[in-house]
Amino acid sequence: MKNTVITIQRAKERGEKITMLTAYDYSMAKLIDEAGINMILVGDSLGMVMLGYEDTLSVTMEDMIHHTRAVARGVKDTMVVADMPFMSYQTSVYDAVLNAGRLMKEGRANAVKLEGGKEFAEHIRAITAASIPVVAHLGLTPQSLNAFGGFKVQGKTEEAARKLLEDARAIEAAGAAAVVLECVPARLAKLVTEQLHIPTIGIGAGAECDGQVLVYQDMLAMFGNFKPKFVKQFADIGNLMKEAFRKYIEEVESGAFPAEEHTFKIDDEVIEKLY
Ligand code: KIV
Repeated sequence: MKNTVITIQRAKERGEKITMLTAYDYSMAKLIDEAGINMILVGDSLGMVMLGYEDTLSVTMEDMIHHTRAVARGVKDTMVVADMPFMSYQTSVYDAVLNAGRLMKEGRANAVKLEGGKEFAEHIRAITAASIPVVAHLGLTPQSLNAFGGFKVQGKTEEAARKLLEDARAIEAAGAAAVVLECVPARLAKLVTEQLHIPTIGIGAGAECDGQVLVYQDMLAMFGNFKPKFVKQFADIGNLMKEAFRKYIEEVESGAFPAEEHTFKIDDEVIEKLY
């Protein structure tokens, strides 16, 4: 059954956990879809893990459309959420609707995600009015890295926690279909989850959120030695891949690969005529 904003809302109401991972290309999206995930996020984290930037700020609409389109081609039942990149919605409500529309029309996403709280309520309302589901993103919002002064846990003081709760209520009232809570203390994320009717998807926000999301390179140990506290490495695919690459290099250099079974045949009389 296709996962949609309706099915994830039902999952929250039934107390069933919602699963989400990032993906940025066709073959990975296909594997994750076949594993039975509910949602794939084409995150602007692709700036770091796919394009080698040091943050998400340089990611463009063209990058997002290109990768979202590839992911959308790879999935059957998974709901695809595409990140709105930095400065694709902050500039105006008009830009927000236009660019959300491009991610749906050209990227074939099922929903868009944008970072920010009540200051973007109007943007969320307008995008939602255009029949585009919006996933909001609160807590550590990486596009605000320079304003935050680094990657830090958010909502730890009473004032910051109150602001986060207020933002969560504002984005829900504006029509958001779900909200990602990133790097938020677990007890605060629990409170937000209890107070909202829409699903909360946590990353570094504890087990009480309605769902969880991770960047696939992090959970497969494919991104060097970088491992944030909230990441669990479910497999050591990075080292497995390196080992396979080393073996390939060795076998090509030694002549062990390709072997007889990897080669194509030609009739003797055909090839002999060419000598
Ligand atoms: O860009 C991304 O991958 C994200 C997740 C970390 C939630 O926003």
